[in-house]
Amino acid sequence: MNPSLSETHSAVPTTVNVDLGDRSYPIYIGSGLLDQPHLLQRHVHGRRVLVVTNTTVAPLYLDKVVHALTTENSNVSVESVILPDGEQYKDMDTLMKVFDKAIESRLDRRSTFVALGGGVIGDMCGFAAASFLRGINFIQIPTTVMAQVDSSVGGKTGINHRLGKNLIGAFYQPQCVLIDTDTLNTLPERELASGFAEVIKYGLIRDAEFFEWQEKNMHALMARDPNALAYAIKRSCENKAEVVSLDEKESGLRATLNLGHTFGHAIETGVGYGQWLHGEAVAAGTVMAVDMSYRLGWIDDSIVKRVGDILKQTKLPTSPPETVTMDMFKSVMAVDKKVADGLLRLILLKGPLGNCVFTGDYDRKALDDTLRAFCKS
Ligand SMILES: NC(=O)c1ccc[n+]([C@@H]2O[C@H](COP(=O)([O-])OP(=O)(O)OC[C@H]3O[C@@H](n4cnc5c(N)ncnc54)[C@H](O)[C@@H]3O)[C@@H](O)[C@H]2O)c1
Ligand SMILES: [Zn+2]
Repeated sequence: MNPSLSETHSAVPTTVNVDLGDRSYPIYIGSGLLDQPHLLQRHVHGRRVLVVTNTTVAPLYLDKVVHALTTENSNVSVESVILPDGEQYKDMDTLMKVFDKAIESRLDRRSTFVALGGGVIGDMCGFAAASFLRGINFIQIPTTVMAQVDSSVGGKTGINHRLGKNLIGAFYQPQCVLIDTDTLNTLPERELASGFAEVIKYGLIRDAEFFEWQEKNMHALMARDPNALAYAIKRSCENKAEVVSLDEKESGLRATLNLGHTFGHAIETGVGYGQWLHGEAVAAGTVMAVDMSYRLGWIDDSIVKRVGDILKQTKLPTSPPETVTMDMFKSVMAVDKKVADGLLRLILLKGPLGNCVFTGDYDRKALDDTLRAFCKS
């Protein structure tokens, strides 16, 4: 390897700032960032650190993270807790394992939790940090595209209840987010593509230029080109950070980040959680939202085609599975929390590429027609 190249490469991570007053924090993005200990160390508070990770990610990156935390830093002691892997473990029992370890390790208020893994670990560790001793510092090291472009940014943390996803949680911001794009090299292709559904979303709801860039560079992203990945992650984080800093607690604008998610949620519920990845359901849901926007006459057909084309490149699904019926959509969507005054509020595209609305004010027939077009019965 050419040392001077790696030096210049590793010297300057791209930084995106999340602007939330005194809770503002940086997101560092780049290749090889886990080999730059100072990036992490400057955000560690106190002398005790607990790394929260899972059985899949620990063998891949735990040593590296412990090394980054401790190298030339002998007064920090690092413990870790390795949780079982999977959305089904994003629950109270597993959360308790984090508290068990934290208490056994005598962590105090000035300690730091580090989340190392995908969105499940990030959400759970963030919630643990928000509630342990009424709130201690935490750092996110997201290792999936989904976590790097979406879940690690914005401070939503939490766990599932058996009656619904993410029902128990807190808004809680980390000290920093460190995104080492090299971690994506071990990510299964299906997980990689799933994260791109959220990347595409940012383009559609608010960043036409970014969508155009994706149309030209999706093959590079699928091939895990580090520069393309770093750019896509940066631009996604910038978009999310901007939305979050304008509407942290989701009183309006932040809801637009849920493009395709109401349809997608119905798909996830309909097929059973864990069958389809979140991004896969969002991809099919996005196609449905775009279809409905077109039926309402709010966008022209070129956008419909472009969305279909870009999703084909990612190999993400563009329609729900046959097992999900119209009735299933209707019943899941009806209990979704976006129903106000009997009107289901949806994020729909409106106007030129990069524009959307969050509204319950649309011709109901368009929704029925979309559901009929995508469902057998
Ligand atoms: N907080 C938010 O704003 C927000 C936003 C979107 C999603 N989420 C949550 O995020 C979760 C989904 O996140 P996800 O898609 O990252 O799923 P995940 O955390 O389950 O990770 C997917 C799989 O990839 C594995 N993995 C992680 N990093 C890896 C790597 N570098 N190499 C190989 N394997 C790796 C994981 O162990 C897991 O098996 C859901 O629980 C969802 O609710 C939260
Ligand atoms: Zn999502």
